[in-house]
Amino acid sequence: MQKIHASITAVGGYVPEYRLTNAELETMMDTTDEWIQSRTGIKERRILKGEGKGSSDMAVEAVKNLLSKRGIAPTDIEMVICATTTPDMQFPATANVICDKVGMTKAWGYDINAACSGFIFALTVGSQFIETGRHKKVLVIGVDKMSSIMDYEDRKTSIIFGDGAGCVLLEPDTDGYGLIDSILRTDGSGRVYLHQKAGGSVKPASIETVMNKEHYVYQEGQAVFKFAVKNMADVSAEIMERNNLTAETVNWLVPHQANMRIITATADRMKLPPEKVMVNIERFGNTTNGTLPLCLWEWESRLHKGDNIVLAAFGGGFTWGSTYIKWAYDTK
Ligand code: UT7
Repeated sequence: MQKIHASITAVGGYVPEYRLTNAELETMMDTTDEWIQSRTGIKERRILKGEGKGSSDMAVEAVKNLLSKRGIAPTDIEMVICATTTPDMQFPATANVICDKVGMTKAWGYDINAACSGFIFALTVGSQFIETGRHKKVLVIGVDKMSSIMDYEDRKTSIIFGDGAGCVLLEPDTDGYGLIDSILRTDGSGRVYLHQKAGGSVKPASIETVMNKEHYVYQEGQAVFKFAVKNMADVSAEIMERNNLTAETVNWLVPHQANMRIITATADRMKLPPEKVMVNIERFGNTTNGTLPLCLWEWESRLHKGDNIVLAAFGGGFTWGSTYIKWAYDTK
């Protein structure tokens, strides 16, 4: 019997309208457009405005976009995995909220939290449900409203993050297209460099934690940078090697968009020219779980059936990984 692969058959995306430019950040903190662009490659990021709006609201738009492109009904979806670091609330899972808002009443699902690597972790998990034959339509979402946990007085951290959502549909394929391989890693000792200090069971929310700004992202940027450069590049080189891929046979690198310098280091290690690397960091910044599906969403019309695509991510935890996909369709 032919092996079943989980192939991506549709992509959806959404970014909020509001553009937080470097020029506006200059009015909010002691920074400059020149510093931000030269250190990160970012010019602007999108911010979700509006009382009572959360990650699920962006994900809903991305999912509707995907369903209409694929021409299927919300009730056709059997499972939803939502990768997010900024869920609507601690519980229930944001996947449940999205199912309700979109009308995916036949689906079950849950959230995955692996910080910036969440989307490739979720993609790998979702693929298992296709590969085993358990489900025929699995939706994998990556979404974050990073502005909800950002201290805009912390110039070292807040300048890189933005809000956005992307999603892909996984369906079975027996012709060799789809997710071929994944290398996923975690190192919990890295948690000291990138985390949220309060709001969990160790340190529940209190007046003190709010006053001490412990619900914002805490990041030691330089330390994270060093681990990210090494690990994202290592794992991308490893997945190429074990799948006999070369710089010539890889069509696209889809790197996590945290810092242009990390993206360049990964591409250099893979010996890939810039024209094979998806980059939208200058317009969206680091949308955490949103970066990879938003790249696929923007590049979808340029992808061809049979393209060899390597996804790579690194994030808090530490978590990191790389995924090799054989693209399954040409866009009509
Ligand atoms: O998403 C996955 C996980 N996250 C990442 O992968 C992020 C990895 N880290 C980074 O991308 C970089 O570390 C940052 C972009 C966050 C920071 O860049 P950096 O080059 O590592 O800056 P730094 O924190 O080492 O600061 C260098 C200098 C400092 O000045 P002194 O102490 O040398 O005088 C900072 O105070 O730059 C200063 N600085 C700024 N100056 C202007 C830091 N932030 C800013 C700023 N504007 N926004």
